[in-house]
This record gives sequence, structure tokens and C-alpha cells, in this order.
Amino acid sequence: MEPERTEPVPVPTPSGAQTGRRRFLRYLLGLSVFSTLAMVATPVLAFLVPPPSSSNQAGGRVPAGTTADIPVGTGKVVAMGSTPVIVTNTAQGIHAFSAVCTHLGCIVAFDTTLGQIACPCHGGTFNPDTGAVTAGPPPAPLPPVTVVVEKDQIFLVNG
Ligand code: FES
Repeated sequence: MEPERTEPVPVPTPSGAQTGRRRFLRYLLGLSVFSTLAMVATPVLAFLVPPPSSSNQAGGRVPAGTTADIPVGTGKVVAMGSTPVIVTNTAQGIHAFSAVCTHLGCIVAFDTTLGQIACPCHGGTFNPDTGAVTAGPPPAPLPPVTVVVEKDQIFLVNG
């Protein structure tokens, strides 16, 4: 016995309205994928690309204030990029040193009573002209930082 033949069933073709909806849904899907990738990539790129350093603004020189800001017999801690630096003004002139104590890394300050650089953590003190240890546990002097004075402007020099 021969199988019964049937007419081929016509496949419905999408109407113009259905094609438009599919295209719109594909557009929304692509947009959401793009948005998700952008939300993930932006913070990763921001982390990987460092921001411009403020120390490059004056050709490797960082403004540290004026001589009026740091009168003779005082000192001031300023930021050179991410490094704290103490600028001192004494009868011998203006000097600058790393403000990170060589003992355990506390940030030093100028003690106007002692007339020296002093560390608040363990009582270490440093000569404001040379950075040499004058008392306390610090094992080494404060590393010097190059300082330039032009008229009344004080600049720290990188490097
Ligand atoms: S950290 Fe400065 S004296 Fe100890």
C-alpha cells in the first residue's frame, strides 16, 4: 500500500510588523550588551591608566609656597606628588627633606619650640639644616630633597 500524499504545508513568512519587532529587539539586545561591556571596561581602564601627575605641571618642579608661608625658624610639610616633604627655613637658608621618619615611617613636623624637625611617634628629632638625627631612635637622617627659591617662590625638584 502506498502512503497517502499530502500537500506541502506552507511556511508562514513573517509580516512586515514582525520583522520590524525582531529588528528592534536585536537592536535592544545589542545596546544592552554594549552598555554592559562599557560599564565593565571603563573602571578597568581607569585603574590601568594612571592619572597625570601634578608634579609635571611645572616641568618637574612642585610649588611649595612662598618664603612668607614659611618664615625663618619654621617649617611646613607639603606634598610632592604622593610624597610628603618638610620644607624648613632657618638662618642658614631654606632646605627640604623627606617628611617620612627613618625609624618607623611616621610623618615628621617642625617643632618651633625645639627649633628642630620632630617625629611625633617616638621622639626622634632631626637637624632642620641637614636632616641629621639629633636625638631618638631614627637610624638614619632624613633624605634631602632639592629645593629651588626664585624670588619668594619655593619649588621642590623631582629626581
Ligand atoms: S617613627 Fe619617628 S621616631 Fe619612631
